[in-house]
Amino acid sequence: MNTTTRTDAGTGGLPDSLTSRFEATFGAAPDGIWAAPGRVNLIGEHTDYNEGFVLPFAIDKRATTAVRLRGDSTVRLISTVGDQGLVEADAAALAPGTVIGWAKYPLGVVWALQQHGIEVPGFDLLLDSDVPPGAGLSSSHAIECAVVTALNELTGAGLTAEEMVTLTQHAENVFVGAPTGIMDQSASLRGASGRAVFLDCRDQSVELVPFQAQEHGLVLLVIDTKVSHSHADGGYASRRASCELGAEVLGVKALRDFGVADLVEASGLLDPVTFRRVRHIVTENDRVLQTVATLRSEGPAGIGRLLDASHASMRDDFEISCPELDLAVDTARSHGAIGARMTGGGFGGSAIALTPVQHEQQVRDAVVRAFAGAGFTAPDIFTVTPAAGAERVR
Ligand code: GLA
Repeated sequence: MNTTTRTDAGTGGLPDSLTSRFEATFGAAPDGIWAAPGRVNLIGEHTDYNEGFVLPFAIDKRATTAVRLRGDSTVRLISTVGDQGLVEADAAALAPGTVIGWAKYPLGVVWALQQHGIEVPGFDLLLDSDVPPGAGLSSSHAIECAVVTALNELTGAGLTAEEMVTLTQHAENVFVGAPTGIMDQSASLRGASGRAVFLDCRDQSVELVPFQAQEHGLVLLVIDTKVSHSHADGGYASRRASCELGAEVLGVKALRDFGVADLVEASGLLDPVTFRRVRHIVTENDRVLQTVATLRSEGPAGIGRLLDASHASMRDDFEISCPELDLAVDTARSHGAIGARMTGGGFGGSAIALTPVQHEQQVRDAVVRAFAGAGFTAPDIFTVTPAAGAERVR
């Protein structure tokens, strides 16, 4: 596990202050400003690379980039987040594994666009973001999606949202070196205000499902455990490998094709660990479908037990939780949340807790107390609502 120092998130990229900072840094106004959100996943974890179902939403925290094309092939990047200097690179000489730090996200997008046959000239870019890094809320995908949206427009490439999803996944898998799926980019690029993104990861079809917790007297709390994770490390890849092994032994193209009713048969064919990994994916896919159906029939108040079951499955079968996430989930549940689970890739990051408004403060207080009592770093707790996907803001 890669435990990195966490820097504070930026301020959310107000267009006026970003424009003046850009001018002060680069000596001219940007061509435009583009923003893309982070995400939380309501349910459907590690199902994306098994060609299954996910239900994330774009959150009201986003990466904002001011960009101006240059006349040469030089790329200059600077971030307001943390104390990081100017990064300079040659757009014509990018290769996987050659860039470290946050610049690998925008430069990975440039590289992937080029791989796709799109010529990308040099540009100056200023990044701001209020998506907390390392919190499992896809801060890196938010950067990639803001950059791909900007460059798609500035180069006139005319890519569809689906193509931008595939392209940023390629950047992430090959340039960044994290073998992740398509969920995060899809939420960031295709999210909508007040809606969760019900995504079929086999064909990228999307249905936007209303998720307006506040209209039902609920809030969705994010509990950032402050335990950092990196999906370029071994845990994520080893889970993915187990799923691929499971699919191969069971004779299906992807675990998406295996049903809950078939699990009894699978137990005799797989070693115990692979069986538990498979069981998580198969039951999780089913929980996503049940969650969508429940949101439609009963609204968010009905999905608590599905969130709880998802967490138990990730803790016990997929084994991607950690003591901080379990404590956050258990404490939230025992102090009034109607459902809670870790969200994202796991091994750290954040939990979500669907909580009646009247219990919000007591859940927050209880989680802070429990973390202090356990000797854990104090968590960050905040609410999120489904927000618009990537867009030009100026
Ligand atoms: C990370 C990856 C996603 C997805 C989740 C787990 O966020 O980027 O593609 O696999 O983990 O659901």
